[in-house]
Amino acid sequence: MRVINVVGARPNFMKIAPIMREMQKHGGFDPVLLHTGQHYDDAMSQVFFEDLKIPKPDINLGVGSGTHAQQTAKIMVEFEKILADMRPDLVLVVGDVNSTLACSVVAAKMLVPVAHVEAGLRSFDRTMPEEINRLVTDALSTLLFTTSRDANENLLREGHTPEQIYFVGNVMIDTLLAFAKQAEHSDVLERLHLDSKRYAVLTLHRPGNVDNPSTLSRILNALENLQRHIPIVFPAHPRTSDRFRQFGLSERVASMRNMKVIEPLGYLDFIKLTAHAKLVLTDSGGLQEETTVLGIPCLTLRDNTERPITITEGTNTLVGTNPAVIVSEALKVLNGHGKHGRTPELWDGRAAERIIEILARWNPSQLSTAQAA
Ligand code: UD1
Repeated sequence: MRVINVVGARPNFMKIAPIMREMQKHGGFDPVLLHTGQHYDDAMSQVFFEDLKIPKPDINLGVGSGTHAQQTAKIMVEFEKILADMRPDLVLVVGDVNSTLACSVVAAKMLVPVAHVEAGLRSFDRTMPEEINRLVTDALSTLLFTTSRDANENLLREGHTPEQIYFVGNVMIDTLLAFAKQAEHSDVLERLHLDSKRYAVLTLHRPGNVDNPSTLSRILNALENLQRHIPIVFPAHPRTSDRFRQFGLSERVASMRNMKVIEPLGYLDFIKLTAHAKLVLTDSGGLQEETTVLGIPCLTLRDNTERPITITEGTNTLVGTNPAVIVSEALKVLNGHGKHGRTPELWDGRAAERIIEILARWNPSQLSTAQAA
């Protein structure tokens, strides 16, 4: 079975790694790895291929940055040529980035079945570009692989058939569990002069948080206060660093003596940094899941999450962007009242194995009938 596996942006790389590995191991697949080039800085892309031993992409569309329409359109134009040329049996997409959406639309229109890994997550907030990407990708996918039972329910409610939906677990956690030991060898704590459990980690890149100067400034208010209680390490996404410059906030950020703003980290360094943190503050989706498995309290600087299981079962708490709430919730954690949580069902390191088993048994004609029905 020839499968084009699509990646484009940072959170895709840890999801595709175990899938590529299992496909290669199985023998019944001809896996092609396609990178759209949505992320292109070495620190946002190349380092993950090295850390996670992902094979070099067979194809790189090299689309780069742009507005949503520009980026999506560029990917679509280039991907259409690749599909026409390669005629794969399946296109496999992961997550919810623009590359996921663009390649799903092209494949569906060229009648190539799409498998979506991490299907069915919903924040019910259409101001998030990822929510649009998730809805469209799922609507067009033939096979839907989910990470939690709530995702199955969302998909059924939207009219998908049970035959299309497979609850398989979480491929990003496959990677976390596979590399957690190796990550322990990272010397990132020494490099940054940090002591285990005596610092907080911050990541921030959602357009809703960083593209609006007043929201970003409110978050800085909270950080100004919090860094008086605990050192904060902030590997800054290029988008966020740009916004600090653009909004004239760079000096204010630099004046926080107990907050270290650093370049984005590679996978192994970042996992080590997270695993030894006292607390994580983030607006990322994936990090809510990783902290849940690592047992590190996570405060999510958003009003909603598409990953509710990280709240009901994991270590995650939604705190929004109100500085008073962020600080009081953070202080609770520092005072020993952080959530402990437990690992959700099937987040056991074997999700990719399950996906490959299902794909190996998959009979496209059966599914198109199920879909037509
Ligand atoms: C994308 C995903 C988001 C994911 C995030 C992880 C979409 C809609 N969003 O957001 O879901 O959580 O990746 O990082 O797909 N840039 C660089 N170098 C790079 C990549 C980006 O400098 O290698 C800068 C550029 O200024 C670019 C900006 O970051 O315009 C935004 O990049 P983009 O890929 O559009 O979206 P992200 O914010 O990274």
